[in-house]
Amino acid sequence: MSRVAVVTGGTRGIGAAISLALKSAGYRVAANYAGNDEAAQAFHAETGIPVFKWDVSSYEACSEGLARIEAELGPIEVLINNAGITRDAMFHKMTPQQWHEVINTNLTGLFNMTHQVWAGMRERSFGRIVNISSINGQKGQMGQANYSAAKAGDLGFTKALAQEGAAKNITVNAICPGYIGTEMVLAIPEKVLNERIIPQIPVGRLGTPDEVARCVVFLVSDDAGFITGSTLSANGGQLFV
Ligand SMILES: NC(=O)c1ccc[n+]([C@@H]2O[C@H](COP(=O)([O-])OP(=O)(O)OC[C@H]3O[C@@H](n4cnc5c(N)ncnc54)[C@H](OP(=O)(O)O)[C@@H]3O)[C@@H](O)[C@H]2O)c1
Repeated sequence: MSRVAVVTGGTRGIGAAISLALKSAGYRVAANYAGNDEAAQAFHAETGIPVFKWDVSSYEACSEGLARIEAELGPIEVLINNAGITRDAMFHKMTPQQWHEVINTNLTGLFNMTHQVWAGMRERSFGRIVNISSINGQKGQMGQANYSAAKAGDLGFTKALAQEGAAKNITVNAICPGYIGTEMVLAIPEKVLNERIIPQIPVGRLGTPDEVARCVVFLVSDDAGFITGSTLSANGGQLFV
C-alpha cells in the first residue's frame, strides 16, 4: 500500500508542486489549505488530490483536519510543513499582529502539525518530515524580522526533532528555497525583481516550484534514510551555508 503524505499549503505555489510530485511518485496525498476555496477546488479538479481546509496556526484545527485525513486515507507517514505567509514591514513599523500572524503560521504551525503525527510515526517506526524554511531564515532579511525569526526557528525545530526521531526511523529535514517564482514572489514589482533580486542570484533566474518539489521527493524516499537534521539550500547559488 502506498504511503500517505500530507502537504500543508498544498494547493498553491510550491506546495501544489510538492503535492503533485508526491502523487506522481506514488504517494496518496492530502493537500491542506487555509481559505482560498477557489484555488483549492481548481487544484482538486485538475489533479484529483483531495483538499482539506484548516488553519495550521490552530492546534485544534490541525487535530480535527488530520483526523479527517486519517479516516479517509489512513495513517500519515509523510508530513510536509509548507504552509507559510508573509506580513512584511520594517521593524519600527511592524505591529504585534504582523509578528504573531507570521510566528503562529510559519513556526507554531510546525509544532501544531508535527506534534499530532509524531506518536503514530514513533509507534510504526517510520516517518518522513520535511519543513519548508527559507533562505531568509538563514541570512535574515530587512523588512522580515517576523518571517526570518520564524524560518530560523523552523531550522532549530528540524535539528532538535531529527535527534529525537532518529532511533525510530523518523527523518526530519528542512529545505531553504531562495526566490521561487510563485504568487508570493511574483507579487514583488517587476522592476524590483529585475533590478534588485535577480542580480543577486548567480544562476540568473528565479527557481521553480518543481525544483523544490523534487528535493522533497528525494528527502522522503527510502533512499534518503540516512539523511536527517539536514538543511538543503535551493537558492541558485545566492547563499552558501
Ligand atoms: N516563494 C518563494 O520564493 C519562497 C522562498 C522561500 C520559502 N518559501 C516558503 O515556501 C512555502 C510556500 O510558499 P509559496 O510561495 O508557495 O506560498 P503561496 O503561493 O502563498 O501559497 C501558500 C499556501 O499556504 C497556505 N496557507 C497559508 N497560511 C496557511 C494557514 N494558516 N493554514 C493552512 N494553510 C495556509 C495557502 O492556502 P490558501 O491558498 O488557502 O491561501 C497556500 O496553499 C512557505 O512556507 C514560504 O515561506 C517560499
